[in-house]
Amino acid sequence: MNQMQEFDNVKAHLEDIGQSHILQFQDKINPEQGLSLLNQVKNLDFSRIPTWVEKYVLNDGSLKVPEHFDPAPSWPPVPKTAEQAEKYAKAVQIGENLIRQGKVAGFVVAGGQGTRLGFDGPKGNYPISPIKKKTLFRIFAENLLAASKKYGTTIPFYIMTSPLNHNATVEIFESADYYGLGKENVVIFQQGTLPNFGFNGKILLADKHKIATSPDGHGGSLKALYQSGAVADMKKRGVRYLSYWQVDNPLIHPIDPLFVGLHVADNAEMSSKALLKTGPLEKVGNFCLVDGKVTVIEYSDLPDEAAHRKTEDGSLAFELGSIGIHIISVSFIEKLNADGDFALPFHRAVKKIPHIDKNGNAIEPDEPNGIKLETFVFDAIPMAAHSIILQTRREEEFAPVKNAAGVDSAEVTHQMMIDRAADWLEKAGITVPRKPDDTPDCTLEIAPSFALTADDVKPKTDEIPELTPGCIIYLE
Ligand code: UD1
Repeated sequence: MNQMQEFDNVKAHLEDIGQSHILQFQDKINPEQGLSLLNQVKNLDFSRIPTWVEKYVLNDGSLKVPEHFDPAPSWPPVPKTAEQAEKYAKAVQIGENLIRQGKVAGFVVAGGQGTRLGFDGPKGNYPISPIKKKTLFRIFAENLLAASKKYGTTIPFYIMTSPLNHNATVEIFESADYYGLGKENVVIFQQGTLPNFGFNGKILLADKHKIATSPDGHGGSLKALYQSGAVADMKKRGVRYLSYWQVDNPLIHPIDPLFVGLHVADNAEMSSKALLKTGPLEKVGNFCLVDGKVTVIEYSDLPDEAAHRKTEDGSLAFELGSIGIHIISVSFIEKLNADGDFALPFHRAVKKIPHIDKNGNAIEPDEPNGIKLETFVFDAIPMAAHSIILQTRREEEFAPVKNAAGVDSAEVTHQMMIDRAADWLEKAGITVPRKPDDTPDCTLEIAPSFALTADDVKPKTDEIPELTPGCIIYLE
């Protein structure tokens, strides 16, 4: 079949779904561009596009808040009763055994655009550590390397990218020689994309031979892990649990025996770490219980009354915020994908989308002009047979770099990395000089090779020099 016939062929299908304008510049593009456009069209999900347009583009069919929902139960960051202490001790043992047996892998979702940070290139390449200026990717990789040594195993690292940053990410890992993890233990794969729509439901064109698309959200990871062959790779290695985190958080504990152990002890399929919210309206997802299932309700969807509701002890009823940290069983990912029809609900975002108009002129909109659809990984939690939530502490595990300045900026993250290092040293009995405002009067950085937790510092106190005001100390 020549290209012309191929175009005629797909045109009929596009007409059926009201999207034949995609081929309007067919006569103005060269054969190579024609081939590329044909491939993009073939990858469109013809059977679903009309429903997406009707439900999510022309209408806001995003999930509605259920009528009844309760706060979700959780495990506290440290046990509060003797019974819990026993449970935690057992969970740590279970977790450590599974890690030692190579059944736990690291997985970072890094397909996002990171536009708010204004950093050129993949966000994982952002230099963040206080002294050595290690990048986020390097910090994660060094964590996995140190945990591999600690537990006498090899912990593979899975990284999800998107077409926006895949090649650049691969180059970064290659030029860093995979940060010592070994190329064979690093699997970088791409998530899927979805077409962008104008408000009238028509798919936008980025160029005469290019459909405007964007990554399908971090929820796309559950499909991409399966379709890319990453799940098959895990099965070959005997990996059964994935530790999932977001690319912007250098304080993450990628390999946490307690979290893995509680997930397994409670027969969970997808579990989450949560933070106590800083206030009723903090902009994080809220862990709730809907029909007995753990469900995340977005901050923007949580009714005001529920957001402000207090319990008898004066704490917020809905106090658990979602921070994008999960344990996902590999068998759960397989189960979701098994029938080939797995789909998470879409969330609709009204955005400014660059495109070409019907005359082929490039438009850079000043105002939102279309709809991007995204899926969120936490929407899979209610699909799990069981799910647990473990609370973590902000100062110990959550300092995302999201913005160029202010809240969640590099400056804040930087200080939180120093604060956590100071806290770990003090817990080991080291004196840290402090300023009148109680912040450490020194710049500290602890390499994962030195310690992965506060407990790891204790046997190494002999190696730590005396800390004097204003000192700069890197421990590795
Ligand atoms: C997210 C959460 C929010 C949580 C916060 C914690 C959502 C909708 N919101 O917000 O509840 O409190 O993190 O930091 O998740 N990503 C992809 N592919 C995509 C889109 C995103 O891999 O298509 C990755 C990003 O690279 C990043 C992560 O997902 O690692 C989070 O994405 P981001 O857009 O930064 O989420 P936030 O709006 O900050």
